[in-house]
Amino acid sequence: MQFFLDTANIDQIKEAASWGILDGVTTNPSLLSKEEGKFEDIIKEICRVVPGPVSVECVSTKVAEIIAEARELSKLADNVVIKIPIFLDGLKATKVISEEGIQVNTTLVFSPNQALLAAKAGARYVSPFIGRLDDITHDGMELVEQILVILDTYGFNTKVIAASIRHPRHVIEAAMMGADIATIPFGVLDKLLKHPLTDLGMDKFLADWEKVKSR
Ligand code: G3P
Repeated sequence: MQFFLDTANIDQIKEAASWGILDGVTTNPSLLSKEEGKFEDIIKEICRVVPGPVSVECVSTKVAEIIAEARELSKLADNVVIKIPIFLDGLKATKVISEEGIQVNTTLVFSPNQALLAAKAGARYVSPFIGRLDDITHDGMELVEQILVILDTYGFNTKVIAASIRHPRHVIEAAMMGADIATIPFGVLDKLLKHPLTDLGMDKFLADWEKVKSR
């Protein structure tokens, strides 16, 4: 399973990269709005730090403009992936730019049919938003499972990114289902590592080692 960091914060990205487990980054306009500086500079720096794919979202809403914006964004760095929400103009633009070799991450996916359409249009990634479905008492994980089954059944070359992850259980469940990627906020990534029994166990081992050492 690949781990992407869901953030535009360069310090968090550098920290996660230093762990040796970071495969990519996803950004969106809301995440970028939390950071200081010019948008292009932030993206270029993220792309320098992260060798893997970095998703950058188009904000145009008409097909010709989305295509033009995607072409411009893809010039920022070789590892830029273009995020496009799933709606009609976005779908049409996905078809065109995917055929040009630009990788698309179809975002704001809330149904299996949206994911199927994105895959048929050539999207390299689809991002079902688990947490936002859970928020409205739907089952975000069920959506991930449905998409995985459909894409696998027809042999699409589209990877599933479990997105809008809110807690470590989402990561476990996505991993057990075989989601290709989880895009994880730094706060959740940090929690994946920790367990109180590990801390207690380490304290005990180190205390006992002091006794052995001083013999
Ligand atoms: O990658 C999608 C993610 O940024 C959305 O997360 O927590 O805003 O639903 P959230």
